[in-house]
Parts: sequence; C-alpha cells; structure tokens
Amino acid sequence: MAGWKDKRKVMHSYDVTAEMYEERYAEEQQRKYRKALENAAVLGEAVLDVGCGSGLFFSQVSAQADMVVGVDVSRKLLQKAKEHAGAFGNVFVLQADADHLPFKDGFFGAVFAFTVLQNMPKPNETLSELKRTAKRGGKVIVTGLKKAFPLEKFMDVLDGSGLQVAAFVDDEAVNCYVAVLTA
Ligand SMILES: C[S@@+](CC[C@H](N)C(=O)[O-])C[C@H]1O[C@@H](n2cnc3c(N)ncnc32)[C@H](O)[C@@H]1O
Repeated sequence: MAGWKDKRKVMHSYDVTAEMYEERYAEEQQRKYRKALENAAVLGEAVLDVGCGSGLFFSQVSAQADMVVGVDVSRKLLQKAKEHAGAFGNVFVLQADADHLPFKDGFFGAVFAFTVLQNMPKPNETLSELKRTAKRGGKVIVTGLKKAFPLEKFMDVLDGSGLQVAAFVDDEAVNCYVAVLTA
C-alpha cells in the first residue's frame, strides 16, 4: 500500500495525542465547520466525514443530514468519535484509510475532510478517492492547512481533481483554506 509506513506514523501520533485532541483543537475546528456548512447544504444527504478524528463535526451536521459516517485511521480518536456518535441515531464510525474508502462510487451527497490532506502522502490521490464516493452534483469539502499548503500548492491539488470549485474561503481567523467543490 503506497505510503503505508508514513501513514502508520501519522496514525500513531494521533493515537498518542487523542486524549488532549479536543481540548487543544475543538474551537479551531468549529470555525472550519461553520465556514463549510455556510457554503455546502447537507439537508437530507448521506454525509461522509473522512478523518473524522474524535467526531467533533457530528454535532454540527447530524441534525441536518440523513446519515453521517465518520472514518479515521486512529483507533484512539475513533473510540472518542464512537462516544459522540452514540448521542445521535444517525451517525456511524469505522476505521478506514482515506485513500481506500470502503464505499461504493457516488454513495454520498457530501464528503468532508477537515484538516486531513496534510497527513496524506499524495493529497491529489486522496482527493480523487473522496470524489469517487461523492454522487454526481454532490459536494466534496476539503480544508488545506495553511502552514502545510502554500495557497498555490493547495490550488494545484484542487485543479488536478477535476472538481469544480463552488466556494473558496480564506479567512485569516481560520488556519485552513476551506474549499467547497462540486462533483
Ligand atoms: C487534524 S485531525 C482532524 C480531525 C477532524 N477532521 C476534526 O475536524 O477534528 C486529522 C485527522 O486525520 C486522520 N487521518 C490521518 N491520516 C489518515 C488516513 N490515512 N486515513 C484516514 N484518516 C486519517 C487522523 O487520525 C486525524 O483524526
């Protein structure tokens, strides 16, 4: 599997920091969720949250979506995500690699990946896998961590995806670019 050694390192680093993840990042991530949901409707849709971490996004999206599936490689973060998911009747989590998603083509109306691409060995290939799982006309929403992606590099990843950019947010109060793409 391409880049699996690097992926294992990433997985381990999130496992060891899982306990402090929410305390450290919840506020920052919530800002990204708000920007994304302002620009991408999820009402009645099947939603995929790739690299869902501890499941912070679930409370924002589950009331509007028909169903939410969160996937992540970190077992420790997924345990937390499972606890969050338990508060809702329509949220499910499983362990999976963002480059090999166990879903059929075009299943989801909206596919989100918040602060995930910087962890991936080939972000363009990851984006193409996200695209595969989105239905035609559905949305793929990805964020690009500014310290990892100079704007030009992030735009290159988006341009190479064949997805149309529906909205692009570069807010100085947010440490990521937020791109809403149409499949
Ligand atoms: C910065 S955290 C963001 C978590 C979550 N999206 C949020 O908004 O809080 C990055 C997440 O990507 C996950 N991740 C890293 N590599 C991954 C991979 N190959 N497949 C799936 N998830 C991965 C990590 O385990 C971690 O949960």
